Amino acid sequence: MKKFPTNFLWGAAMSAPQTEGHSLLNGKSASTWDHWFETNPEKFNANQGPADTSNIYELYKEDCQRMEDIGLNSIRTSIAWTRLLPDGKTLNPEAVAFYRDYFQEIRNHGVEPIINLFHFDMPMWLMEKGGWETRESVDAFAFYAKTAFEQFGDLVSKWTTFNEPLVHVECGYLFGYHYPAIVDFKKAVQVGYHTLMAHTCAVKAFREVLPQGEIGIILNISPAYARSESDADQQAKLASDLLNTRSFLDPAVHGHLPEELIALIKENELTPETQAEDTQLMAENTVDFIGLNYYQPRRVQAPTNPAKPAKMPSDLYGAYDWPEKRINPYRGWEIYPEAMYDVAIMMKNDYKNIPWFVSENGMGVADEERFLDENGMIQDDYRIEFMKEHLDYLHQGIQEGSNCFGYQTWTFVDCWSWLNGYRNRYGFYRVDLDNQFQRSVKKSGLWFKQVVQDNGYTN
Ligand code: BG6
Repeated sequence: MKKFPTNFLWGAAMSAPQTEGHSLLNGKSASTWDHWFETNPEKFNANQGPADTSNIYELYKEDCQRMEDIGLNSIRTSIAWTRLLPDGKTLNPEAVAFYRDYFQEIRNHGVEPIINLFHFDMPMWLMEKGGWETRESVDAFAFYAKTAFEQFGDLVSKWTTFNEPLVHVECGYLFGYHYPAIVDFKKAVQVGYHTLMAHTCAVKAFREVLPQGEIGIILNISPAYARSESDADQQAKLASDLLNTRSFLDPAVHGHLPEELIALIKENELTPETQAEDTQLMAENTVDFIGLNYYQPRRVQAPTNPAKPAKMPSDLYGAYDWPEKRINPYRGWEIYPEAMYDVAIMMKNDYKNIPWFVSENGMGVADEERFLDENGMIQDDYRIEFMKEHLDYLHQGIQEGSNCFGYQTWTFVDCWSWLNGYRNRYGFYRVDLDNQFQRSVKKSGLWFKQVVQDNGYTN
């Protein structure tokens, strides 16, 4: 049997905008998602918008029981900034009551809550002022963070500032997948920088309000693998790692941006506006732990005919189509569990072996009702296989000394996925959209329960 360390956290991750529903009710103001769906519904799969999502706002008590039913000992979700502080300043009492009861209920079921502050859900009132492009967003986020720590710090001891901060940078300012769908490398860098400073200032507030607690950040990790050992391909790998991994991981753990990243940004005339105190703030506000969301690697090669200075990241590294790749056809993402080991060793060797956990890993599959058995249970053996393969490599990394303290899958109950709506399902529980969001456990949920019970599994 492959055994995991004592007190290993086994769980699932989710987020407020993807699960709560009640998106414009109970005092909550609009996020960019509410606004975008209202103005451009055609962009969203099957007209599925953010209003209802999986209705945890109403079903959280039953859902906390469901967490216990499949043995989870931890869960990650987020607070909606727009629910807690609808105008950025005024506390919404209904939100305080809801989150307090929800977090207490999670704990009552023996599950440890890990609470995140931002999961792609920018308040519309702030976006109207320029969102992360403005320095004002840093102070606004720090105020929100401080408020959340004060209101819920007695119920939650593990906090994270951002989920995948690079995603709103890339999707919002380079590739058009998230509002405001701007394509501008320089703005993207500024947005990334302000996000980093917002994270840093939130950590600072945390140390003041909850000195006994622990705080981290959740990063999407797609380790770069170069086509060849040639200098040009290796240069592309370096650029990808600097922009996509080290841009947040280095300051979060080491307290400063990599020199090579600063030089790369400068060479390409992308240097953001900064403030004199930022360097010291970063140095003084490193994290206690890191969460890494791993789904797929990044295959890179030297770019062909790159613009100089770079207009897009593809001018710094090209995408390499690895002929041997294995793909999840529903999501179009490569399946490469081996990277889990590489990431574990990277954390050990390059990041002081800081405590870290796999904060998301999972497989989205469309039309899962194809796999319903005669008892109405989804037989998602593919998902079990996917988790096992990844856990195998994670286990190997832990055996070699990597300080990993948990594994959380995406996700607990099927949830709404941004522009993809409910097309791909990831949950341990199926959500029936035609039947008032009724849930039913999948085979993977029962498999996971056994894993948690045994603190490991047999291949
Ligand atoms: C992660 C995000 O990147 O991947 C989640 O934190 C997201 O919000 C998950 O839902 C799965 O990706 P997708 O795009 O298929 O929903």
